[in-house]
Amino acid sequence: MTVVLATQENIRKASQILSSGGVVAFPTETVYGLGCDTTNKEAVSRVYTLKNRPNDNPLIAHVSTVEEAKKITIGWDDRCDQLAERFWPGPLTIILNRRESVPKEACGGTDTIAVRCPNHEIAKKLIKEFGGPISAPSANISGHTSPTTATHVHNDFGDELFVLDGGPCDKGIESTVISMVGNPTVLRRGSIEVGELLHVISGVVAQTPASQNESPGSSDKHYAPNARMVLQSSKEISKQYGEDIVFLVIKTKPASGTVITLPTTSGEYAKLLYAAIREADAMKPKAIHVEKPPNTPGWEAINDRLRRASS
Ligand code: TXA
Ligand code: MG
Repeated sequence: MTVVLATQENIRKASQILSSGGVVAFPTETVYGLGCDTTNKEAVSRVYTLKNRPNDNPLIAHVSTVEEAKKITIGWDDRCDQLAERFWPGPLTIILNRRESVPKEACGGTDTIAVRCPNHEIAKKLIKEFGGPISAPSANISGHTSPTTATHVHNDFGDELFVLDGGPCDKGIESTVISMVGNPTVLRRGSIEVGELLHVISGVVAQTPASQNESPGSSDKHYAPNARMVLQSSKEISKQYGEDIVFLVIKTKPASGTVITLPTTSGEYAKLLYAAIREADAMKPKAIHVEKPPNTPGWEAINDRLRRASS
């Protein structure tokens, strides 16, 4: 068992592993997920152990239809229908109250559950083949950078884990998480921006970083490489030098050091960011210096992740 091509046969194998209470990694359009059977407490506990994840940090249940989402949630209303119609399948995670039938262990012990319908052929096939919701956090050791390739997953978990390889993820940054329990509140910024949500339903607010405690995984010190990461203005970067520093830049060239250049558009940047952070970290530098991206629409989630990774 290790990284395998996501052929129909291997998807069937992955589904069998899930049915027998095992764990598999699979690609989604955002990042790779570490999946298990939502309804199987032992399987869920395996995911927490593998990731070294605090067991009060709830998991997202991945479904392939709105009907499946309704089967595990309470309170799916017209607004949820509108969000799903516009953004599903896609990188939007909706939090509602959890049905009694879902073990609380799959939700970090809370009364709520997060659901998402991923927009990725392999993920969709796997959920259909399995025939039920698959709980899956990002397939990285807790607190580390999320994986956007099968190799990233393999680097974190080794040969013991069955990984369906679907190539690099298209979005590269995790889903937007919105709580629909009470007023619509964005708990984690992601590929879909708050402004886009406001086009579909009214009254969406975003938790400020300081008030961000409702989504335990949104705490700072997430997405962090081992090396110290520092955010710097273009001007600061241009004056910097140091052979033992890796620079992640968009346009600016430092005086010396190893440079990884990222794309100028937010979509392409997001897609390559985590791979670049992992690549930089693998060089074991003294520090990773990152050129601050623009503070304009399209860059919200990227700036959020960079802030956390450098906190
Ligand atoms: O794009 C994604 O969302 C990826 C792919 C695999 O779907 N998954 C992912 O899962 O990023 P994870 O576990 O790494 O992050 C889920 C986030 C965490 O911050 C968690 O605390 C929050 O969603 N979350 C999940 N269920 C929640 C709940 N019931 N209440 C509040 N926050 C919740
Ligand atoms: Mg994660």
